[in-house]
Amino acid sequence: MAAQNLQSVPDQPAAPGAAAPAADQGQAQLEAEGQAYFDRVISEDSRIEPRDWMPAAYRKTLLRQISQHAHSEIIGMQPEANWISRAPSLKRKAILMAKVQDEAGHGLYLYSAAETLGQSRDQMMDDLIAGKARYSSIFNYPALTWADMGAIGWLVDGAAICNQVPLCRASYGPYGRAMVRICKEESFHQRQGFEILLELSNGTPAQKQMAQDAVNRWYAPALMMFGPPDDDSPNSKQSTAWNIKRFSNDELRSRFVGMMVEQVRVLGLTLPDSEVRFNEDTRKWEHGPLDWNEFKEVLAGRGPCNSQRLERRRQAHDDGAWVREAAAAYAHKQSMKTKEFAA
Ligand code: 3HC
Repeated sequence: MAAQNLQSVPDQPAAPGAAAPAADQGQAQLEAEGQAYFDRVISEDSRIEPRDWMPAAYRKTLLRQISQHAHSEIIGMQPEANWISRAPSLKRKAILMAKVQDEAGHGLYLYSAAETLGQSRDQMMDDLIAGKARYSSIFNYPALTWADMGAIGWLVDGAAICNQVPLCRASYGPYGRAMVRICKEESFHQRQGFEILLELSNGTPAQKQMAQDAVNRWYAPALMMFGPPDDDSPNSKQSTAWNIKRFSNDELRSRFVGMMVEQVRVLGLTLPDSEVRFNEDTRKWEHGPLDWNEFKEVLAGRGPCNSQRLERRRQAHDDGAWVREAAAAYAHKQSMKTKEFAA
């Protein structure tokens, strides 16, 4: 299918009672053609690319979701980075460093995808640092012991995969393509978390208890990563109609619980939820109640680590200023050389 690359025509205010100027009519026709093209692509479950016409609300929704997702990856480096120097062996240290670097890479793919929608990375970063942008609730909880590295990998990355595999089919091309690579790396992250917990679970009684304690603390926050219940999710309906979201928040949460039920048995641990069950009538996994007030508090910036995470991000941004300046100066020098060569 050929892409529809429609340039916008500047707005011309019409005099009251006057016939619409030709520029207005041209603009209206371009918009109508663009909308028809967009509707067809969505109905055929095909992809919208950056230069295609898209409704302003679609662009805004994507920017919201992709930038939040990018911020989550970047802030998500913190709880694990704190444990690199305390990892129990050289092997564990190397694995954890690689994982944290992967998360930085995910942030970069996603910021690049968001930039194709017309917002600069600097602007997104400024919004994050100013506390105006959201990032995933999960990263506002503390990582208290080494077993938390296992629980984060198994539960948090596991929930991320469950949520993000369907996003590989998101209707916006750059987002879907970024998600393919991210999901491959997240699978490795989940396995390394599972393996940490398995080793602790098969260790001394104190190590097993440490693993169980970490699972107990991360279970409910991981379930809340999927977002509010469906009847309290204002964005789901439209995002699903636009083929950005493929499954509802509750549907994915239920699938995730089903996956965890099987895996926790292999770990020799338990989920801290006596109400987990498979409902034969609905054919869905159910779980016990979640504290949605706590979720709202975390989103409002009042979670256990919100201020600490933002402060650390600000500090890292300030510390990295000289690197950005050096990179910009080098890029400028290179482009001047290219221009001189071309002249
Ligand atoms: N944390 C913070 N905010 C959340 C949230 C969460 N766990 N869940 C929902 N919200 C926010 C939404 O952003 C929205 O706020 P906004 O309108 O101000 O943007 C509000 O709560 C209402 O929620 P909705 O269900 O209506 O919002 P969405 O339709 O956008 O669904 C979502 C929420 C399922 C998280 C969806 O945005 C999504 O799939 N995002 C992409 C995945 C993502 O961002 N994952 C981050 C996880 S961490 C990660 O990837 C790092 C890895 O290394 C573990």
